[in-house]
Amino acid sequence: MIYLADTANCDQIRDLIKYYPLEGVTTNPSLLAHEGKPLSKIIPEILDCIGDKMIHIQTISENAEDILKEAKLYREVFGLKGNFYAKIPVTREGYRAISLVKDSGINVTATAIFTQQQAMMAANAGADFVAPYVNRLDNIVSHGIEVVADIVKGIKMYGLPTRVLAASFKNVDQVYRVSLTGCHSVTLSHEVFLALMSHPMTDRGVQDFEKDATDIYDIK
Ligand code: E4P
Repeated sequence: MIYLADTANCDQIRDLIKYYPLEGVTTNPSLLAHEGKPLSKIIPEILDCIGDKMIHIQTISENAEDILKEAKLYREVFGLKGNFYAKIPVTREGYRAISLVKDSGINVTATAIFTQQQAMMAANAGADFVAPYVNRLDNIVSHGIEVVADIVKGIKMYGLPTRVLAASFKNVDQVYRVSLTGCHSVTLSHEVFLALMSHPMTDRGVQDFEKDATDIYDIK
């Protein structure tokens, strides 16, 4: 399973990259708006932090032709290559756009997925990644982890090349359970990312080792 950061905040991205070889960054309009800067400023800043790691930028156009234009514009304006994924919400026009964008040579992440069938149809239309929203599913008394498991199973069953990029996590348990489904990738907030990396027993163990090592580790 690979790990991406679900944030548009460069301090958070830098902090994560410093400690972990994350595979890329996912953004959405809400995360970008939170930074209080226009896309033209924030995307180059993110690219400065991540180099050629994956960047997933969401399109906001309504019809398929406009989504295609938007994806092409981002590729051109930001000088993006194979690391760029146009994140396309799975509206009716979105499904149409997935094939158009994919055929134009731009990678596609189908997003805002809440059912196994949305994911299967997006995969069939040519999406490289499908992004089901785990916590948002849990919050509507559905079962995010079960939906991810069904998507992973369906993709394997039909031998599709699409990968599952599970998103919308609020705690480490959701990530742990999703990892048991064979999910290919997850995108995590800074907070959940850090929580996954740490454990109080690890800290305590390291403190004890440091104390015991003080007098005997004499090779300098
Ligand atoms: C995925 O890329 C989504 O934009 C994101 O994970 C949604 O997360 P949220 O439910 O925390 O807003």
